[in-house]
Amino acid sequence: MPDAIIRAQGLTKSFDKGDLALEDVSFDIYSGEIFGVIGKSGAGKSTLVRCLNFLERPSAGEVYFQGEALSGMSRKKLYQARQSIGMIFQQFNLLMQRTVLDNVCFPLEIAGWKRETAKKRAAELLELVKLSEKAGTYPAKLSGGQRQRVAIARAVACGPKALLCDEATSALDPETTRDILSLLRDINLRFGITIVVITHEMQVIENLCGRVAVMDAARVVEIGGVREVFSRPKSEAARALINTDGEAAALLRFLGKNGVSIEEVLGHVWHDN
Ligand SMILES: Nc1ncnc2c1ncn2[C@@H]1O[C@H](COP(=O)(O)OP(=O)(O)OP(=O)(O)O)[C@@H](O)[C@H]1O
Ligand SMILES: [Mg+2]
Repeated sequence: MPDAIIRAQGLTKSFDKGDLALEDVSFDIYSGEIFGVIGKSGAGKSTLVRCLNFLERPSAGEVYFQGEALSGMSRKKLYQARQSIGMIFQQFNLLMQRTVLDNVCFPLEIAGWKRETAKKRAAELLELVKLSEKAGTYPAKLSGGQRQRVAIARAVACGPKALLCDEATSALDPETTRDILSLLRDINLRFGITIVVITHEMQVIENLCGRVAVMDAARVVEIGGVREVFSRPKSEAARALINTDGEAAALLRFLGKNGVSIEEVLGHVWHDN
């Protein structure tokens, strides 16, 4: 069994009002893997990742990072664990008043790096994300894909062990999405950083992830290898998301219930033409 870098155990989250946002969610994320989380809007994906580094305190359950329970950590220890878990978002969340270089320097300065060493490290990271020539530019002048590259450079600045990506490519066009995915793959391979990808884009999961968890109404309803889940989804939620198969299967079920064969329907269509 590979090592679990992040273990969620019985995670439950309730906000003041409404249904549970997470209900008894348990799974392991293995060191070095790229793990996907899919589920329709409101299923609890963002709440789940925010609970994984305690940005959001779970109402019940536990998260273990490298075997250590987050709830038992001192503030300082939790802060250090968070430095080991980078995050990127759909809206990039860059500091608009700072240059690209200074955005990447920011977490290093907070971590106590000297200005000059931080600048040197940030410059190396900008080279990694192929943005060296934009070091002195402000984020407002960058494209969406370039902004996400800065966010990635910033997220890996402190040398995290894991990177959580919440809809990181959802605001980007398909070509830019491919660029960002290949950058994430590169980071995973070169530095062995474990990556957790939340997305509603099934192609992202297919192209990037080894395993995937399917969420529905605050629960993980299915988990497994991407190929397995995509070719033979077991849950209704997975079938609905993996829509090409899902649509065909749903049509067949509908026809079956109504005592109509697919041949009859297709025959009907062909006659109409
Ligand atoms: N801060 C909050 N206060 C109250 N309810 C919240 C809060 N954050 C999330 N929720 C609720 O928790 C549930 C799960 O939300 P969450 O944002 O995790 O879903 P999601 O799967 O990320 O959806 P999407 O795909 O739209 O991003 C929703 O019903 C949402 O309204
Ligand atoms: Mg979300």
